Amino acid sequence: MAGLVRLESISKTFETDSKRVIALREVSLRVAPGEIFGIIGLSGAGKSTLVRCINMLEVPDRGKVYVDGLEITALGSRELREARKKIGMIFQHFNLLSSRTVLENVVFPLEIAKLEKADRVRKGRKLLALVGLEDKEDAYPSQLSGGQKQRVGVARALANDPKVLLCDEPTSSLDPQTTRSILRLLDTINKAFGLTIILITHEMDAIRQICDKVAVIADGKVAESGRVIDMFTSPRHETTKAMIRGSSHIDAPDWAVEILEASAKAADRRVVRLSFMGESTGRPVISSIARDFGVDINILTAQIDHIKSIPFGVMLVELSGNGDAVEKSIDFLRGLGVSVEVIDDVSDLLTEVNGG
Ligand SMILES: Nc1ncnc2c1ncn2[C@@H]1O[C@H](COP(=O)(O)OP(=O)(O)O)[C@@H](O)[C@H]1O
Ligand SMILES: [Mg+2]
Repeated sequence: MAGLVRLESISKTFETDSKRVIALREVSLRVAPGEIFGIIGLSGAGKSTLVRCINMLEVPDRGKVYVDGLEITALGSRELREARKKIGMIFQHFNLLSSRTVLENVVFPLEIAKLEKADRVRKGRKLLALVGLEDKEDAYPSQLSGGQKQRVGVARALANDPKVLLCDEPTSSLDPQTTRSILRLLDTINKAFGLTIILITHEMDAIRQICDKVAVIADGKVAESGRVIDMFTSPRHETTKAMIRGSSHIDAPDWAVEILEASAKAADRRVVRLSFMGESTGRPVISSIARDFGVDINILTAQIDHIKSIPFGVMLVELSGNGDAVEKSIDFLRGLGVSVEVIDDVSDLLTEVNGG
């Protein structure tokens, strides 16, 4: 199957005088054209090394990288320079040239590509308008906010009309509000031009807001990958679960803790986490199990977020009922496609609730 970016069994080890670090272990990935593909993992997991292997800023020890059908790992230096024009990149610390104006930064790749000055300026201004900085072309980077600097970074990365944009923690130095505006900009560019984007982050919120697919990297390996929606509703790997918990805004009051402890001991009571997608909120589902199964429902906490633009709800509820009513209602919910996780270990939930 074709992919715009394809990694096949990429391995990379760093050797220094004192130690040897295996940064990537046989990583394979496939990013389809037009996708926003997230790569998430803890610090040191190997994310930057991975993305730098895509444009050969880091040369993998083994494995192959393909971009737009071309095997990048097989190119000579002149061909590689040409191929890199198809691969834009933005960075956490923006990497702007401080002695150049905003416009001069944006057109820098076009200077290297030996475009005529008039053409460079025309293109540069178009790109600045795209990122909302048309009035800043003569400013210097030191005169800009972090968000504006990253917008310059985006404009510069788009100068050669790349097929893919690599983003290495582009919002990690920005405040939450600016983060959202940069993520929105990336989303807009993706939609407007069908530009494929690979977004590295350690923040689950960024994945949730704009990514279609995601790969979780842990210890130099792909722990799991797939659609963002599936990962949020049924995470498999421990790292994924921990990261989702860490980003969850769910919060249970103290009184809920007692209910959780009591319910863990009782046979006819269960505390469950329900995750549901789409326009339907959990409410109709909840009222129907109350009615049809005679189950009592105690909503402990509830939260609605969005995955891209799709509402995504999480509810922590206690179900109680006679005989096997609770089990039956859980089966019913699962049959409706609601993801139901029975919480049997209260201590798990408590650390989650407390953000631990
Ligand atoms: N140039 C390098 N020399 C030596 N070790 C490196 C180098 N680059 C990365 N590493 C090591 O490789 C591992 C993965 O690093 P990195 O890809 O930067 O992770 P992440 O971006 O997920 O935080 C880390 O242990 C890091 O210290
Ligand atoms: Mg990194």
